[in-house]
Amino acid sequence: MAGTGVFQEIVDGDVFQYYADGEWKKSSSGKSVSIINPATRKIQYKVQACTQAEVNKVFETAKAAQKLWAKVPLWKRAEALHKAAALLKEHKGPIAECLVKEVAKPAKDSVSEVVRSGDLISYTAEGGVRILSEGKFLVSDSFPGNDRNKLCLASKIPLGVVLAIPPFNYPVNLAVSKIAAALIAGNAVVLKPPTQGAVAGLHMIQCFHLAGFPKGLLSCVTGKGSEIGDFLTMHPGVNCISFTGGDTGIAISKKAGMVPLQMELGGKDACIVLEDADLDLAAANIVKGGFSYSGQRCTAVKVVLAMESIADDLVAKVNAKVDKLTVGSPEEDCDITAVVSESSANFIEGLARDAKEKGATFCQEYKREGNLIWPLLVDHVRPDMRLAWEEPFGPVLPVIRISSVEEGIHHCNANNFALQGCIFTRDINKAIMISDAMETGTVQINSAPARGPDHFPFQGLRDSGIGSQGITNSINMMTKVKSTVINLPSASYTMG
Ligand code: G3H
Repeated sequence: MAGTGVFQEIVDGDVFQYYADGEWKKSSSGKSVSIINPATRKIQYKVQACTQAEVNKVFETAKAAQKLWAKVPLWKRAEALHKAAALLKEHKGPIAECLVKEVAKPAKDSVSEVVRSGDLISYTAEGGVRILSEGKFLVSDSFPGNDRNKLCLASKIPLGVVLAIPPFNYPVNLAVSKIAAALIAGNAVVLKPPTQGAVAGLHMIQCFHLAGFPKGLLSCVTGKGSEIGDFLTMHPGVNCISFTGGDTGIAISKKAGMVPLQMELGGKDACIVLEDADLDLAAANIVKGGFSYSGQRCTAVKVVLAMESIADDLVAKVNAKVDKLTVGSPEEDCDITAVVSESSANFIEGLARDAKEKGATFCQEYKREGNLIWPLLVDHVRPDMRLAWEEPFGPVLPVIRISSVEEGIHHCNANNFALQGCIFTRDINKAIMISDAMETGTVQINSAPARGPDHFPFQGLRDSGIGSQGITNSINMMTKVKSTVINLPSASYTMG
């Protein structure tokens, strides 16, 4: 159970504590932030409302701890990460329980998230050992006008303190994707978990604590974004920001100082289905891609662009599968569960209503109870409808019928979001040409968009992000190159 066993020390009374200087602490604010269970709409947990002074202290200790950590042998850093990974997997039960209660993630997916996170940490530790063990050796005489008298040794060094801000939909997995890469590269980390998902994040941090990382190297502050959000992202102690989430990321990018940014800000992933596609395969992927975790994935299929000639058949196949989705509680592992908040449910409903008012067809009866929205396929969506462009982040999926491939590519490229996309066709040459024309971070051929496996590059264009993720890219992003140049007195040795 959450907050029991090895997790007992992270909670004080009914409020989960924040983690700083290697200890679990109560905030001097005396205030807490409530976390509402999306399914019951009742308070599930409470976390500390940290103050700005506490944030200052965390950056101070992180800076000092990082200097020492950067000197710890790489194999030892990897060893500590492997320990944290094992602990995370060992304690997957209570952590998964938090995900079920805080973000209404179905029970099995919650366990998968924790296990996947353990694997991600281990892979990052192994990858880091290899990536960071190699540098470059350059010789000057390849550049015009130079002799062979300058030798450059280039290697990767850490950036300093990484501010990690994961989103509510993967509060554990997208936290460790940032933390593990930062730590193996010799950085310190300040984690600001999302409010919904904070308690899962604090349990995950306890696994790092038990793994024995040095005091102050990893901290986790909780609180209201309105009170400590800007203070954190604009803090002079930040040397890198890795953020996953929504529009807030655009605001952060504008306000952040001169620090490297890794931003993943959502998507409107288009699924183009051609006449020659395997429609059963396409339908299965559309339902899995569009409705897993109730559509609350940045990589969810968010608009289907179906060629007119096969659209009726495709929609019928998708509808047959949608009708079989189970709707209800995350504890019972239903396919469709409550979306994260009431405001999110209202936003999703607004998009669906706008489409309906403008003439789209609801393939199922629209049904909502509290934050629980039944899965809905919306056919005959047109570009004048908000649903054609905006990201519902919920179980409502639009279908636009297209008369040419070019129309599909145009729709994909005209969107501000450009995270992923997919194409269904049996013609691999056509698939590759369309992929080439789709201006988006990743194109999947004959499968739904997805971030994993977690070592694959993962990036968005335009409003979908800055930089690239995936294990290697994250490690590289959280380091910079340091060179030492050996200047020889002359280019060659003259025999006396
Ligand atoms: O929500 C954004 C995540 O990066 C998506 O990850 O494709 O594994 O669900 P996923």
